[in-house]
Amino acid sequence: MSPLFLLFSTIILSTILYNLLFKNRNKGTRPLPPGPKGWPILGNLPQLGTKPHQSLYAIAKNYGPLMYLKFGSVDVIVASSNHVASQFLKTHDAIFSNRPPNSGAEHIAYNYQDMVFAPYGSRWRALRKICALHLFSAKALDDFRPIRQAEVMSMAKEVYLQGKEGAAVNLGQATYVCAMDALSRATVGWKIFGEGKEASEFKAMVVELMQLAGVFNVGDFVKGLAWMDLQGVVGKMKKLHKRYDVFFDSLIEARRTGKNKGEGKDLLSVLLNFQGEGGDFEEGKLSDVDIKALMLNLFTAGTDTSSSTVEWALAELIRHPDVLQRAQEELDSVVGRNRIVTEQDLPNLPVFQAITKEVFRLHPSTPLSLPRMADNACEIDGYHIPKNATLLVNVWAIAKDPAVWKDPLRFDPGRFLPGGSHAHADLKGNDFELIPFGAGRRICAGMSLGLRMVQIMSATLIHAFDWNLPDGQTPDKLDMEEAYGLTLQRAVPLVACPVPRLEPVAYEMAN
Ligand code: HEM
Repeated sequence: MSPLFLLFSTIILSTILYNLLFKNRNKGTRPLPPGPKGWPILGNLPQLGTKPHQSLYAIAKNYGPLMYLKFGSVDVIVASSNHVASQFLKTHDAIFSNRPPNSGAEHIAYNYQDMVFAPYGSRWRALRKICALHLFSAKALDDFRPIRQAEVMSMAKEVYLQGKEGAAVNLGQATYVCAMDALSRATVGWKIFGEGKEASEFKAMVVELMQLAGVFNVGDFVKGLAWMDLQGVVGKMKKLHKRYDVFFDSLIEARRTGKNKGEGKDLLSVLLNFQGEGGDFEEGKLSDVDIKALMLNLFTAGTDTSSSTVEWALAELIRHPDVLQRAQEELDSVVGRNRIVTEQDLPNLPVFQAITKEVFRLHPSTPLSLPRMADNACEIDGYHIPKNATLLVNVWAIAKDPAVWKDPLRFDPGRFLPGGSHAHADLKGNDFELIPFGAGRRICAGMSLGLRMVQIMSATLIHAFDWNLPDGQTPDKLDMEEAYGLTLQRAVPLVACPVPRLEPVAYEMAN
């Protein structure tokens, strides 16, 4: 037998065997969704570029709203339309209630001991229940309302004083301090970051966390390359984790030693009680690590998301002075000019509510939501979705789908007003064309608080001030570029000069 004949027969035999063993196994199952061809070993990872939500949006224009990609050896499914998203997050939500393994969860989030990355199950449920009861329920939100209001007032006063001196305000920074102080008083009973420097340091830590969490780390997808840490992500994660850990240790220590007595019913005191004899956390006693992991989630997921949304809102309104004026007229008629707007006013402000929705539509703060993973294989729209596939829901792309949104890139809050094309759309995971908080079982745990903070901070800044751009910048040239990260930062922070527009007494009321 010639060697050539041997080679040919081996190839033919192997092909037949492969078809029998593997191809025929898929007989009866559906094809994978369409998607672009990837590179050897890395698959489609190199195609993600620096802004993956935008790249995936562009790729979906060619392959459709249900795509299959390969990141290294991991199957990845991308949903880019409201219909497809609802198939995953509503019809098949039970299958997609876990998050895929990733280095961020391991190296920053205490090895999955937090809530965001906890496996779907009783421990995750118990953590969500504690937060729902003590932070996010209607009663808890009402109990903490005076705290939020006080922090918003103190932001207004600070901005007022800067405005009187003709100074420009970094809006992302001002709203971040406000969101953080309101949240930290409710969670750890302490206004930790009220004093400038620490606040900017912590914001930088949160932004770094979001940047690192937004990197598609090659080692997560090509296991053989993990040890090399090609992008240096894991090294940075470990360093960052240490900084967070020291910070959370100091918070717990301050409470135990009585340095921080808290403000009464804050979450930290509830959690520390679970550690005592009478503790009844359903999943056994809470360790310090459990508490730190939860604090990490709340302080990171709950601050920059809200403050950056307000920053985008102000940027859009500065670019659209007619809309800003309409919102101010509505606020003046409901609130007047002698006091600062309160949360109780919000339901009476339909124009303002429509603006909020339009901002969340164009600038969802988590553009690719948080990834989910298929616990089982399933079939969606006639396509096979493999077990263990990672699901990315491109909420940024869904909210710009021209099949659903007329003139999708235009800032037009009127679409959410009575008579508009989306007059009844809500933001809370029911209308899949607008899901900035995600949807289904793992929908954002802090949605109720996040919405309130975004609304009360932006309503205050719109009502209490007119805004001018510094250094001869004109509104039509305002840079609206997005920066890279898990959350949607502005590439260029918004800096603007406030001009007080209420009676002085309104700002004096602010403490
Ligand atoms: C503008 C404000 C916010 C936005 C747009 C937002 C968005 C999101 C999104 C898209 C998810 C993933 C949902 C999914 O998988 O379907 C999420 C999860 C989460 N968010 Fe938010 N969020 C905001 C504010 C907050 C606040 C204020 C907190 C807490 C203080 C918070 C805590 C969480 C937690 C703990 C999760 C994980 C839930 C789980 O895995 O069960 N978020 N958020």
